[in-house]
Amino acid sequence: MNMSRVAEQGLVLLGCGKMGSAMLAGWLDHGLPAASVWVIDPNPSEWLKAQGVNINTPLPEAPAVVLVAVKPQMMGEALPAIQALGGGSTMFISVAAGTSLATFETVLGQGTPIVRAMPNTPAAVRQGITALIGNTNISDEDMALAETLLSTIGETVLLQDEGQIDAVTGVSGSGPAYVFHLIETLAQAGEAHGLSPELAMKLAKSTVAGAGALAVAADEDPSQLRVNVTSPNGTTQAALEVLMHEDQGFPDLLHRAVGAAINRSKELSRE
Ligand SMILES: NC(=O)c1ccc[n+]([C@@H]2O[C@H](COP(=O)([O-])OP(=O)(O)OC[C@H]3O[C@@H](n4cnc5c(N)ncnc54)[C@H](OP(=O)(O)O)[C@@H]3O)[C@@H](O)[C@H]2O)c1
Repeated sequence: MNMSRVAEQGLVLLGCGKMGSAMLAGWLDHGLPAASVWVIDPNPSEWLKAQGVNINTPLPEAPAVVLVAVKPQMMGEALPAIQALGGGSTMFISVAAGTSLATFETVLGQGTPIVRAMPNTPAAVRQGITALIGNTNISDEDMALAETLLSTIGETVLLQDEGQIDAVTGVSGSGPAYVFHLIETLAQAGEAHGLSPELAMKLAKSTVAGAGALAVAADEDPSQLRVNVTSPNGTTQAALEVLMHEDQGFPDLLHRAVGAAINRSKELSRE
């Protein structure tokens, strides 16, 4: 991983909660020296204090990167601490949901290189996926560095325009919760049909994890994988006839669920 620019000039992390700590752990594991990292967080965790990074100390004058990982509702309170670093060559990367590139440009100055990113919670086990979009000041080299920094928590994908962020939020940003609910309800169905809660949950978790791993690893697409395990008139077909029902099955349900998340994402970015 080429993080020499970051190691030399420094990286400032604004907010070190769940997402900030997952990223920081990844960077340190990939060899970024702890002395090159400055963290701003009002209540540093015990884990953070043990990492040897600079915590709530004066910042370098021109760090390579400032990564913003505070909750959107804390943004107004948090941004003044890093506002003075805007308008130069320092690249800002934000993982905050709902805060637009234009909002950051207003606070940091129009000439500031800014990347907006949307990660998801499997970042905690380095199996997240993060979608990125840069403003017009972001060079190819900047974007490559942003992808390098975010690849420590999973895969990365580049977006064509910022308008796609709402749909990404509806699919991968909020998506892990849909899958957790699938696990819950699959286990509940097993329980309702006589399995113990522990056994039903173990079966449901491993089935979702295994099917997910197979879907990622296989050459065939998920539709073909489904066909492969569906013998005519068999048990899987009986269940799929319920799940694939035209207006009471998964397709309509997920279409509406993702649509609701997208609408909320649009509302939040207007608030
Ligand atoms: N978690 C996810 O899966 C996920 C997915 C996509 C996007 N995101 C985005 O990632 C961002 C962080 O989410 P998170 O889940 O990591 O939240 P979090 O665990 O609450 O972390 C936010 C951190 O920022 C700190 N903070 C609060 N006010 C601050 C200030 N003025 N200056 C500096 N730090 C401050 C918080 O400290 P206190 O706890 O003491 O308040 C906390 O340590 C959010 O904007 C969210 O939209 C998260």
